[in-house]
Amino acid sequence: QSAPIKITRETFRECRRGQWAGIPADCCPPKTIDGPIIDFSPPKLNPSKPLRVRKALQCLSGKELRTYTKKLQKGYRLMRALPDTDPRSYARQYGIHCAYATGSFIQDGSNNLTIDVHVGWYFHPWHRAYVYFHEKILQKLLNDTEFSLHYWNYDNTNSLDKNEALHDGGCYKSGLYFPPMYNDPTKATFQWNRSERAFDPKRPADLAFDGTRYNISLGPPSFPDNLTLAQIIWRNNELMHRTFLTWGNSTIAFMGKEYREGDPQALGIANGAGMQEKYSHTSMHCYVGGKMFEPKSAPEDPVFFPFHANLERLWDVWLSLGDDHRNPTSSDWLDGEFLLWDENAVMNRFRVRDFLSAEALGYTYQKANVDSWVNFDT
Ligand code: C2O
Repeated sequence: QSAPIKITRETFRECRRGQWAGIPADCCPPKTIDGPIIDFSPPKLNPSKPLRVRKALQCLSGKELRTYTKKLQKGYRLMRALPDTDPRSYARQYGIHCAYATGSFIQDGSNNLTIDVHVGWYFHPWHRAYVYFHEKILQKLLNDTEFSLHYWNYDNTNSLDKNEALHDGGCYKSGLYFPPMYNDPTKATFQWNRSERAFDPKRPADLAFDGTRYNISLGPPSFPDNLTLAQIIWRNNELMHRTFLTWGNSTIAFMGKEYREGDPQALGIANGAGMQEKYSHTSMHCYVGGKMFEPKSAPEDPVFFPFHANLERLWDVWLSLGDDHRNPTSSDWLDGEFLLWDENAVMNRFRVRDFLSAEALGYTYQKANVDSWVNFDT
């Protein structure tokens, strides 16, 4: 008799020290969840109001860019200023990801089966929910319900100078370089210890690092320095094409291994991660380096959020790319159940099925170029 993974009040109570790649992680949230746990309900949308749009960061310009950068940085300043006792504080925001990423939570009724939302089929929906609540908290702090976490469109390899037309409202400009609004050391969106790759304007995102070689004891992988920009772009397009259209051409291959109550947490990215999680996602965590390098600390770097917004957008792109590209239909996936705090510091219980559609949650993504990798000829 199979059952989905479920996180409950009891799971929080039983939270214990976790680890990732042998490195201990102490990130349990307070053991008792004070106050009620409410069932998540999607926002009530006004059908005559256009959806909020998460845009490609590299296509913002002029006044819109300036206003956005200011707001974003203010949001993180306010979030960092909240006391740790507040689950909306930045420390608690990244702490909860750590708990979900290091086997700190134990499956109810077991004393050794740990839980991880990575390396398996809960990866995409759980992260959509995580970014969703994080964005809500920023909105609340900024007192602006229209604020969006725009995305780092790193897979967009279109020409760097061409901003050919926002004719259809889409973004056709390369998103290969680190978003500058996250790279100002005087602002709350900065992380000091990123790898030098992220700071070097001549080192574009390299999506073609083989995630199976991810090895903490060897340190961040070094990317070949001798590749030209054109070669890196070629490899990125090839990798995206393969992981989305050939290797990733079935539900499990793309979404990741089935993982249910009673299953041990998959260990290591090689054992069950779907194609996007395993390859480009891992490569990008390595490319940024520093806090982003380890699951236990990744969202301590605010660039985690526009990065994961793009992964979420790409999940929708994948679904649109073929008849075999479908979400799992098993209730063990759909009823996977998790807890996260919302913008009012209230604990929400949500299920995978609540996070299948960005539009139902009130937002959409600005369209961006994918042709260079979708139509890539391997
Ligand atoms: Cu929860 Cu990119 O990781």
